[in-house]
Amino acid sequence: MEPVFTYTITDKAARYEQFITDFLPYITDEHEEVSVLANTTAALRQAFGWFWIGFYLVRDGQLILGPFQGDVACYRIRHARGVCGTAWAEATTQVVPDVEQFPGHIACSGSSRSEIVVPLISKGEVRAVLDIDSEELATFDEVDRDYLERLCGEISSRIYMQ
Ligand code: SME
Repeated sequence: MEPVFTYTITDKAARYEQFITDFLPYITDEHEEVSVLANTTAALRQAFGWFWIGFYLVRDGQLILGPFQGDVACYRIRHARGVCGTAWAEATTQVVPDVEQFPGHIACSGSSRSEIVVPLISKGEVRAVLDIDSEELATFDEVDRDYLERLCGEISSRIYMQ
């Protein structure tokens, strides 16, 4: 397959629009959770180049490390702990402009300065979270929240059908 997720578009919203348009066909016919999440991290990495992009999956009352792109990371996160555990517990996106200001932030890498975590929700239950880390402060804002929530909604509806 040709790599299609390299863009010269500088406007962030326009880049997300193009990315979502290009990426959705890649997840139309595949419903296997790990496979779809793995390709999602690869495509996001190519399109946006963030430092760390990955999923944590809800398993037996905790979050476990799922498919990701970037440095090795923590295996398990407890409910309501860190940014990921908070996104899970509250079932809402967490936008963190400075990780040092987030109480209980879990530092898998000392290079992470800002972060966004988006829950994947199916039938009212969080099934996984998308975690993206940046080496710069205040990388993520409402534009990222809107588009990443849209993307996670599309993914959830395909891989968590039952
Ligand atoms: N910072 C996250 C932990 C996961 S790593 O960033 C990959 C947190 O506080 O939940």
